[in-house]
Amino acid sequence: MKSFFDTVFHRASVRSFNSDPISDAEWDTLLKSAMAAPSAVNKQPWDFIVIDDRRTLDALAAELPYAKMAAEAPAAVVVCAVPARANEGKLEYAVVDASLACENLLLAADALGLGAVWTALYPQSVRENVARRVLGIPEDVVPLAFVPIGKPRGETKAKDKFLPGRIHRGRW
Ligand SMILES: Cc1cc2nc3c(=O)[nH]c(=O)nc-3n(C[C@H](O)[C@H](O)[C@H](O)COP(=O)(O)O)c2cc1C
Repeated sequence: MKSFFDTVFHRASVRSFNSDPISDAEWDTLLKSAMAAPSAVNKQPWDFIVIDDRRTLDALAAELPYAKMAAEAPAAVVVCAVPARANEGKLEYAVVDASLACENLLLAADALGLGAVWTALYPQSVRENVARRVLGIPEDVVPLAFVPIGKPRGETKAKDKFLPGRIHRGRW
């Protein structure tokens, strides 16, 4: 098992996959990791749609121009934000909380030797509506991210993003 820091600094968006399926044990770890995220007032305002059906993956890849890599992924997760279950019923809390769950999912994928990429659904209403139509997501649920997952084809190369100038000590 990789250390936490090995995973954090190794994770990168993976957009090319081989066809190996995700095992049941891997799904268990991925989804438990996602749901371990913090959330405002511990409301956990998220739901996850696990997709491993080839036709559904291809349909989404065909209709989502920034998620074409799903056509070669063996699986994907749509991370949904559920405002009705969020703190104060607010969309903003639901989106923040579901985003944390999504990051946990990305990190868990890397820790398992898998690769994944967050592709935006929210806040692009056209893309949200594609996901709603293809996956039967209700109107009051926000499809946040479509995350293709699989074994990376080739090396994963993380970017070095550390910029000391972005750190303000004490005050801006
Ligand atoms: C909110 C959000 C939306 C994104 N949308 C897309 C997308 O639609 N398609 C895509 O290929 N990558 C998408 N990405 C991935 C980013 O391009 C990627 O995280 C960024 O370039 C940094 O690279 P890294 O993930 O390898 O560190 C998105 C990432 C985030 C956080």
